[in-house]
Amino acid sequence: MQAEYRQRRDRLMEKIGQGTAIFRSAPMAVMHNDVEYNFRQDSDFFYLTGFNEPSAVAVLAPHHEEHKFVLFVRPKEWEKEVWNGYRVGVDAAKERFGADEVYPIAELNEKLPQYLEKADIIYYHLGRDEAFDRTILKHWQRQLKAYPKRGTGPRALEDPAFILHPLRSLKSSAELQLMRKAIAISVEAHQRARELARPGIYEYEIQAEMEYIFRQQSVMGPAYPSIVASGPNACILHYVENNRQLQDGDLLLIDAGCCYEYYNADITRTFPVNRKFTMQQRVIYEIVLEAQRQAIEQVKPGKTYNDMHETAVRVLVEGLLEIGLLVGEIEELIKEKKYKPFYMHGTGHWLGLDVHDGGFYKQGEGEEDWLTFQPGQIITVEPGLYISSETKPAEEQPEIDPQWRGIGVRIEDDVLVTDSGREVLTAAVPKVAEEGIR
Ligand code: GLY
Ligand code: MN
Ligand code: MN
Repeated sequence: MQAEYRQRRDRLMEKIGQGTAIFRSAPMAVMHNDVEYNFRQDSDFFYLTGFNEPSAVAVLAPHHEEHKFVLFVRPKEWEKEVWNGYRVGVDAAKERFGADEVYPIAELNEKLPQYLEKADIIYYHLGRDEAFDRTILKHWQRQLKAYPKRGTGPRALEDPAFILHPLRSLKSSAELQLMRKAIAISVEAHQRARELARPGIYEYEIQAEMEYIFRQQSVMGPAYPSIVASGPNACILHYVENNRQLQDGDLLLIDAGCCYEYYNADITRTFPVNRKFTMQQRVIYEIVLEAQRQAIEQVKPGKTYNDMHETAVRVLVEGLLEIGLLVGEIEELIKEKKYKPFYMHGTGHWLGLDVHDGGFYKQGEGEEDWLTFQPGQIITVEPGLYISSETKPAEEQPEIDPQWRGIGVRIEDDVLVTDSGREVLTAAVPKVAEEGIR
């Protein structure tokens, strides 16, 4: 893996040339008082270093003569390690992470300027860690002050995402292997959930079994808070209480995925708890399934996120028209977004080190500025329809017939763009009603 991290840094450095990029490890998040959440490294930081400790800074300075990759890390300190675990420390970090130079994090202010003096741009992402933002801005100001007589120094600060995230979005074969593993574990958990689901069981029991499978095979566990939403709860997009008892006649929407060595799966399936759709549930399900089928077909080189989204929206609107939840002329309904009360989210997102992964969908304001899919990208395809007891129709649209209320359906797959089209990585979890439910 060392060679892979080096390759990623080299690719970034090739693009920043005379610039210096600074990446900060993730901050520790407080759960309550002095108890912290489990540490999870910042994805940009991890992508470039593989180093997963807090209080660290990575500097990439391709123009520097000796030190192109510099790490600042916590030194070894047994009195602290006995509480919170072993640290790599300054000496071992050099060898283990391939840095040209490693300093204790306390020396950052003293050592950083030498990597900025000759840079033309500082690449740094503002907004993740305010205290550290101020540190970087102070360094930049000092460099600006010195510029008139020195004649060099960074004139601008730029977000590294514009260079780094397009690289992150194209998965290497090593990354793809980890994604496949995260997905295989998640598929197993979804299959287990299907076996377990029956009237009388609680949502949290299913969640626990799924997360047991996640944790059994990956120390990182769930990729995001698992959603196990029965009956009307399926209409809450980020439902996480998971405390309801499943009832005969419910649909069960499960949106859950495993994180394996920092790579995430993101899968949603919806099915009837008693293995038999009501007529209304089947109708809504079939609309969403068809929207997803057609949207997945749009995932191929040359097509864009917007092609995929518009395809899904059109099928959903056709379906809503057919069952009378929308009335009017289809183009107008789409243009005026009258479907929003029933479909309020996007049709997918990049997937990888982050569940909502870095990467761009559009660059420019025009319709022609949507970026085309490239082989190696992974995108989720996740249309849905949600008709809750609270849903209000859009203006000039009919009242909602109560027979549809309480139905929420989402179907989500993780799709790899390939040279010839796509591969649905999560295809092993059944979703075609006839095959899948029994
Ligand atoms: N589970 C998060 C999402 O689907 O985006
Ligand atoms: Mn998703
Ligand atoms: Mn999801």
